[in-house]
Amino acid sequence: MTDQIIAVTGGAGLIGSFLVDQLVIAGHRIVVIDDFSKGTRKNLSKSIDSIEIREGDLEDATFTHEALEGCNIVYHLASRAYGVGYGQGHHMEIMAHNERISTNLIEALEKHRPEHVLITSSSCVYDDDGPDMIPELPLFLDDPERVNKGYGWAKRFLEQKSNLLAEETGIPITIVRPFNIYGERYRWVGQYSQAIPMLVKRILDGEDPVVVWGSGNQRRSYIHAHDCARMMTGLTQAKYTAGPVNIGTQETIAVKDLVLLICEAAGMKPELTFDLTKPEGRSIKSSDTSLFASILPEFDFEVSLKDGVKRMLDWYETTSFDANDQ
Ligand SMILES: NC(=O)c1ccc[n+]([C@@H]2O[C@H](COP(=O)([O-])OP(=O)(O)OC[C@H]3O[C@@H](n4cnc5c(N)ncnc54)[C@H](O)[C@@H]3O)[C@@H](O)[C@H]2O)c1
Repeated sequence: MTDQIIAVTGGAGLIGSFLVDQLVIAGHRIVVIDDFSKGTRKNLSKSIDSIEIREGDLEDATFTHEALEGCNIVYHLASRAYGVGYGQGHHMEIMAHNERISTNLIEALEKHRPEHVLITSSSCVYDDDGPDMIPELPLFLDDPERVNKGYGWAKRFLEQKSNLLAEETGIPITIVRPFNIYGERYRWVGQYSQAIPMLVKRILDGEDPVVVWGSGNQRRSYIHAHDCARMMTGLTQAKYTAGPVNIGTQETIAVKDLVLLICEAAGMKPELTFDLTKPEGRSIKSSDTSLFASILPEFDFEVSLKDGVKRMLDWYETTSFDANDQ
């Protein structure tokens, strides 16, 4: 056990809870800061007896200042992240929520001056018309990803505010831009849920045919939350602060092959049909991983997509789909 206190905002969420488990195993004192709007205590069940929980809303400035009191290292993951498709008509609302969290957090960090901070941005900061394999591009040349415009702008502002904070206070800050992250602690949000949980549910519910949006040829990269958390701690331990780092993979899978992979793991054989009237987004979205590999050349993934899908099938068994259906 070290004397340092590590705060994880959003520590009850998908990625945050894996991060908390790993930091507890490594012997750190952990404070989870979360309002449980999306994260759950169940996600923290492995570590619950070893952590302190400071429950509250980071949109509240007073709470944010108090919550970060005495924390030496801060992993900032909390955000009002909504599922796919929710952005349409809600970009302003999403941006406003996330902006309030960012403003409060940056002010509290300025006051408390922790020794190191990791800020979680997103690959949504990238515009839709850039290269298929995206390096750590500068921003503001175009809008962020169209379907996540409000969220993408809020993440761009968060990055800029973090850069200014680092410049003016000298606090070392690591910024990460995760691509698609999935895992069995995903909180179901009905029709706005992410691709993997959505497909797992539809296939296990016996949907036949399974209707795939677009041609199914659109290619995406996926990382399990366990590995995403390991990448975050690796970058923080390496004290990398020279600029934002992608958390993604170069390898992609076509959505139609992802569906087949899930069907095979589930032992289901539905027919697949492709709805070409529905948008499919970029044809390829993958991450240039050169920068990450240059910082942590020894890093290896521990959860393959195949194993991750098996874990998601178990997730289906233990999830209540009614509670949060929207
Ligand atoms: N999952 C992905 O594919 C992905 C991709 C890119 C970036 N990210 C970013 O990574 C971070 C973690 O994502 P996740 O998938 O674990 O999301 P998540 O929704 O599972 O976790 C976010 C956590 O923050 C908490 N939270 C939200 N608003 C809060 C507030 N106002 N006050 C206190 N707590 C609050 C939620 O209760 C939840 O536990 C987020 O910043 C997200 O934007 C995620």
